[in-house]
Amino acid sequence: MILGICGSPRKAATNHVLSYALEKLENNGFETKSFLLRAKKIAPCIHCDYCLKHKECVQKDDMTNLYALLKEAEGIIMATPVYNGGISGQLKCIMDRCRALGAEDINSLRGKIGLAIAVGGDRSGGQEPAIQQIHSYYILNGIVPISGGSFGANLGASFWSKDKLEEVKKDEYGFKTLNKTLKYFTNYLEK
Ligand SMILES: Cc1cc2nc3c(=O)[nH]c(=O)nc-3n(C[C@H](O)[C@H](O)[C@H](O)COP(=O)(O)O)c2cc1C
Repeated sequence: MILGICGSPRKAATNHVLSYALEKLENNGFETKSFLLRAKKIAPCIHCDYCLKHKECVQKDDMTNLYALLKEAEGIIMATPVYNGGISGQLKCIMDRCRALGAEDINSLRGKIGLAIAVGGDRSGGQEPAIQQIHSYYILNGIVPISGGSFGANLGASFWSKDKLEEVKKDEYGFKTLNKTLKYFTNYLEK
């Protein structure tokens, strides 16, 4: 199963490109599930260290479902809007809450394949730092981060939305970076 996580609080540009990716994967025979952070209740990590002792998070909220999905997935796609040159706070919350997964089993996410998508309102709004932040999370958790290859999508999928859903749909170059990265992603998943 491939899990797509949308880090936007809206059903807008980021959700659109993530849905495109998941639909393409479904058409290629992969089972997919999506988890939209929109309208979910996921509190920030409070660093209480309960998880280190009890092997689970003390906070019971929508993260409980996501823990199960993350463990089940063989591939993970994190898609984020660019906020202040990086990932959204919503996405950062779930990354931090994954400390409990590592406490439960250091190999919880090991060997899964990870793809990153960043959607910025500006042309040079911080898409690449956002992608690298997701890649850092992948590396820290034993997930293999996927590049889109040297010719056209070096770090992953990067979109320019001009702050509008209708504009992201017209971002041909963004879809080129996503398609190239999906090619590498499926290649890794099939091996
Ligand atoms: C709090 C906040 C901070 C933002 N910071 C940036 C930024 O640093 N760079 C950028 O390109 N766009 C920035 N934007 C614009 C969003 O990245 C852009 O509108 C994106 O398409 C939103 O994704 P969505 O439509 O899926 O919600 C910001 C938007 C918000 C709400």
